Amino acid sequence: MSQHVRRSPHMNVMVEAAEKAGRGLLRDFGEVENLQVSRKGPGDFVSNADLKAEKTVMAVLQKARPKFSFLMEESGETIGEDTANRWIVDPLDGTTNFLHGIPHWAVSIALEKDGEIIAGVIYDPIKDEMFTAEKGVGALMNNRRLRVSGRENLADALLAVGSEKDPAFAPEIVSLQGNCSGIRRNGSACLDLCYVAAGRFDAYWERGLNAWDVAAGALIAKEAGAHVSEIGGGKSFIHGRNSIIAANPRIYPPLAKHIASAAPQKARSAS
Ligand code: IPD
Ligand code: CA
Ligand code: CA
Repeated sequence: MSQHVRRSPHMNVMVEAAEKAGRGLLRDFGEVENLQVSRKGPGDFVSNADLKAEKTVMAVLQKARPKFSFLMEESGETIGEDTANRWIVDPLDGTTNFLHGIPHWAVSIALEKDGEIIAGVIYDPIKDEMFTAEKGVGALMNNRRLRVSGRENLADALLAVGSEKDPAFAPEIVSLQGNCSGIRRNGSACLDLCYVAAGRFDAYWERGLNAWDVAAGALIAKEAGAHVSEIGGGKSFIHGRNSIIAANPRIYPPLAKHIASAAPQKARSAS
């Protein structure tokens, strides 16, 4: 169902920046596929594509809002005249996928005002899916309103997880095996959050992410009705490289319980 939704002027600027950077990355992605066969591989080329995308995002945002501050993955913090408003940007989330020619990555842009995320845009140029949300207004994909899934039982739920480098990962997976419909590790935190918003995944969790990985996606998931928190329920899931869990409100409690009960195993195996 397509709906006419009026976007705020900030949102228009964010969409323009994400589209422009996304178009550039899409062109470069074509080249990455050719570079796979070279001995050196596409590593340097991808770093350049990432940097170029960040510059593109910054140029569009800065032109429209010259005073706003920035927090960007590649160039770090830029303090503008206006410190209350800050763009939080991951120009390419899913870099490992991009590097290997796997078509699952996105551009992520959030707007933080007085320490609160008020708008988020995530663009997947391969699928031409533009996920957007503004605080209190709801979330959209292209022009369709997003809503989390209505699944009620963990046994039917499709779950997404993050980094396999985390020591908590293995016991959690073991605890959930056979108790859910499936577990995916897709390699783009921001798209994992969007997929929870779209009801494609019923839940997602990960640890140790940066603000640019989750700022836009957490708002999109929340505005689509997801319960979003740190694992354990805390609220500091944007800054501080803490954990994040986003789930449809029915799946959240049983999933949180499984994750908590997997923790003692982790402690035992560490000792
Ligand atoms: C990464 C992706 C990945 C997550 C990593 C992130 P990057 O971001 O979001 O899904 O597991 O922890 O660092 O490096 O592709 O921007
Ligand atoms: Ca990232
Ligand atoms: Ca990145």
